[in-house]
Amino acid sequence: MKGIKFIGTGSYLPEKTISNDDLSKIMDTNDEWIRQRTGIGQRRMAIEEGCVDLATKAAISALENAKLKPEDIDVLIVATCTPDNYCPSVACMVQEKLLAVNAVAFDISAACTGFIFALKTAESLLKSSEYKNALVIGSEVMTKLINFENRNTAVLFGDGAGAAVISKNDFENGIKDIYIKTDGSGAGLITMPALGSIKDANFEDKEFTYVSDNTRDIFMEGREVFKFATTIMVSMVKDILEKHNLDISDIKYVVPHQANIRIIDYAAKKLKVSSDVFYTNMEEYANTSAASIPIALHEMNAKGLLSKGDNIILLGFGGGLTFGSALITW
Ligand code: UT7
Repeated sequence: MKGIKFIGTGSYLPEKTISNDDLSKIMDTNDEWIRQRTGIGQRRMAIEEGCVDLATKAAISALENAKLKPEDIDVLIVATCTPDNYCPSVACMVQEKLLAVNAVAFDISAACTGFIFALKTAESLLKSSEYKNALVIGSEVMTKLINFENRNTAVLFGDGAGAAVISKNDFENGIKDIYIKTDGSGAGLITMPALGSIKDANFEDKEFTYVSDNTRDIFMEGREVFKFATTIMVSMVKDILEKHNLDISDIKYVVPHQANIRIIDYAAKKLKVSSDVFYTNMEEYANTSAASIPIALHEMNAKGLLSKGDNIILLGFGGGLTFGSALITW
């Protein structure tokens, strides 16, 4: 039986850093509130780059790490909720930039759980076909949709991209399980309506005078999402451990979506494990939605934190509502 394994990781973060103090100059917030309530210290902002640019750079970094050429890639999936265009997909534009001429490329929209959804899709395609190598990318330019007059969400998000190459071969280690699920009853809890086709064209009168407005914003019922996130993180870890007859002590690292340090501390407490088991970097990059897990994974890989045989769990949750987990033996 052939296994599917991570053979390379990569990331790209735009250069511009925006500190909490920078934000406090343009809205009623402060470094102390943001750090205490979220664990976020700063975020990156894409200025002249878009989602495709970030995704392409993360992909190049992952391909180098995997020692593969773009033409070796059979499947190229980008998880994003901030695409540069509705059409073409980010993935098709990345394919063109990389000259990944043999790949089938498409996007997946599952908000902050996007990377886990994309990983599951890529794994399924590799398992069910002759495809051998997949490039899975999470790329987001959240700051382009933020309303910097809405402190409730403006302080939370940042831009970035992470990528991973997975490959099918006679591997013993690798992806052991991936679980994804949605609960549309919570669809209204996190919304980004700016690009949505649900909004009527903004014509004011019969003369067809177009009224431009700035509708970009991210709305979140923070407390409700907080409750959902803590509950789902704990149950996803318990479920995947039980299914594979493992104990939390068998897990080297949990790599969670980087939404809020308090969510992670709560989950660690409930699971009776040190918070150090949960890898975090939201202090530096804030919440980069679908990019947060692959960025963290690459950082851990680059730091040499992952050794052959280590069990790790990836945990995603977010808008949709969407959630998912993956058990990987490195
Ligand atoms: O990535 C997708 C998944 N997302 C998540 O998992 C996020 C889950 N939710 C959270 O992380 C938290 O709910 C937030 C960080 C979004 C908010 O933290 P909170 O502790 O739930 O704060 P809150 O919304 O209950 O607001 C508490 C107070 C309010 O003031 P009053 O009404 O008590 O006077 C807010 O107006 O904090 C105020 N506040 C702020 N103050 C300074 C809200 N945002 C800010 C801000 N700066 N940026």
